[in-house]
Amino acid sequence: MKTVIEKVTYNQKICNQEKIKAAGKIIQEGGLVAFPTETVYGLGADALNPQASAKIYEAKGRPSDNPLIIHISEMKALDKIAVHVSQQALKMAEHFWPGPLTMIFEKSELVPLETTGGLKTVAVRMPSHPAALALIKEAGGFIAAPSANTSGRPSPTSAEHVAEDMNGRISMILDGGAVGIGIESTIVDFTEEIPMILRPGYITPDMIKEVIGDIKIDPGLIKENSDVHPKAPGMKYRHYAPRAELILISGAQDNVQEKINNLAREAELSGKTAGVIGTDESFRYYSYGIVKSIGTRYDEDTIARNLYGILREFDQQNVDIIYSESFTTSGMGQAIMNRLLKAAGQRMIEI
Ligand code: TXA
Ligand code: MG
Repeated sequence: MKTVIEKVTYNQKICNQEKIKAAGKIIQEGGLVAFPTETVYGLGADALNPQASAKIYEAKGRPSDNPLIIHISEMKALDKIAVHVSQQALKMAEHFWPGPLTMIFEKSELVPLETTGGLKTVAVRMPSHPAALALIKEAGGFIAAPSANTSGRPSPTSAEHVAEDMNGRISMILDGGAVGIGIESTIVDFTEEIPMILRPGYITPDMIKEVIGDIKIDPGLIKENSDVHPKAPGMKYRHYAPRAELILISGAQDNVQEKINNLAREAELSGKTAGVIGTDESFRYYSYGIVKSIGTRYDEDTIARNLYGILREFDQQNVDIIYSESFTTSGMGQAIMNRLLKAAGQRMIEI
């Protein structure tokens, strides 16, 4: 299959309609189109067409029990695919939609089990990216879309990343340039008595508490609780991972730098190519391996935006082993550490 790459530009939220129309037509006819959202690029198909959803799993090599998020562009679409939507959930939608929030509800009859990985619940998100919103409208209102990476690899934050993984497997990539946020949406499950965060993201627990009060965090997300499985099926796999081995180092900043220098030197002495993930504040202290700054510690938004791109760059440079600094687990740092730990298969050296 030939993959067509189309640049989409938008001015005051108006997208070039011809390209979006063509992309919408592909989706309506059961095909696959990758498109930009504000979090990461998505791999879209008609969410109400079971054969189309099945193609997503095939293109990504994704386990069939891992459900997809349905993307909508207007509130009235929610009533068609979800039942028992609580007042709390509506309040969340009012505050955070369109935006990087996914909510889980009991599904309606309209939603095929092929889209929900066999579950009776459905994940729904209204993205804020103008190209995504325009595409959802053109495609009939319901786009099932996981991140547009090969299953297990870092999520794509640019059209080039999508092409790396999906060239020849899908009909079209809409290229809207680099994304704004860089890590996936926050997922909140509203099928429980007290809503529960299943995946941390740009919208933090504190931001949610301000809107609806009490909220729980999936105990399966906390590393020490390794006998408890996360409730979002996708959170149990090694994920977001580069081909190289990744190890995180945490502790006092000076000790971390010394440890990483030692480890990178040993790796190079044993003939491996080492990579080091530091920050704007620290990268000049590293003397071994390929050193990259992920951004400044004073701005977690930049760190989130650079994370997946850096992991992919190390892959392109054929690095064997990557040593990374760790970050705080407050605010957005929680989402950053969640992704880094998963990419590392939970390997962290604490000093
Ligand atoms: O920001 C995002 O959410 C991006 C963009 C493209 O919208 N999408 C995304 O999709 O990250 P994906 O498929 O890579 O991750 C979806 C996650 C998986 O961990 C999946 O297991 C979980 O959501 N999920 C989906 N439906 C669910 C359900 N009904 N119950 C529990 N978890 C669900
Ligand atoms: Mg994903």
